[in-house]
Amino acid sequence: MDPNTLKQLVGEAAVQEIPDGAVIGVGTGSTVNCFIDALGRSGKKLAGAVSSSEATTARLEAIGVSVLDANTVESLALYIDGADEIDPNFCMIKGGGGALTREKIVAAMSERFVCICDATKRVTVLGRFPLPVEVIPMAREYVARQLRALGGDPKLRAGFTTDNGNQILDVHGLTIDDPLAWERRLNDIPGVVTNGIFAMQAAHVLLLGTPNGVERFV
Ligand code: 5RP
Repeated sequence: MDPNTLKQLVGEAAVQEIPDGAVIGVGTGSTVNCFIDALGRSGKKLAGAVSSSEATTARLEAIGVSVLDANTVESLALYIDGADEIDPNFCMIKGGGGALTREKIVAAMSERFVCICDATKRVTVLGRFPLPVEVIPMAREYVARQLRALGGDPKLRAGFTTDNGNQILDVHGLTIDDPLAWERRLNDIPGVVTNGIFAMQAAHVLLLGTPNGVERFV
């Protein structure tokens, strides 16, 4: 099965996770796009959604979903998003699409995180995928030096500005054997807005697209 078909299958499976009339959080990326398309086809009615990016907002509005300001919502029933890597404890690397900060905020507001991805994203230890770190532009070189001191090789994502007006350093060469400790350590560097380790906001449910169909893990 080709990767796009797997994304469509997990996108359709994710629609089944949504309680009728719920307010949900929606992530960003090509797998999430498949989910939004499937949601539109399903005719399922939501009370609204909080979006993690301008791109997702446009796509949700195009299918008639009311996109709510996060500040007007107390909590979300669930959050649906993809991942760049996911480990056996459902800790993830996210941010390949550059939306990590808003994704982490919306995930934190949600009672359950449903991760949708294909089987290639499953890893034993996080770190083969370069870790995205969103930085305040004036702190970029300072943060890069701190990341090098921790053993990483940060590369500026050229020509890219986040929805928050910041830059992304993609950090190669890290072995993230203790995701929670790494997430906290990187958060402590002044100038880091968000790092792409989702250990504090690990997934609760994984819908994995495999050649045998969608497998659900909790
Ligand atoms: C965007 C993300 C995405 O969830 C992640 O990059 C996976 O994307 P895709 O579904 O296109 O493989 O974190 O910031």
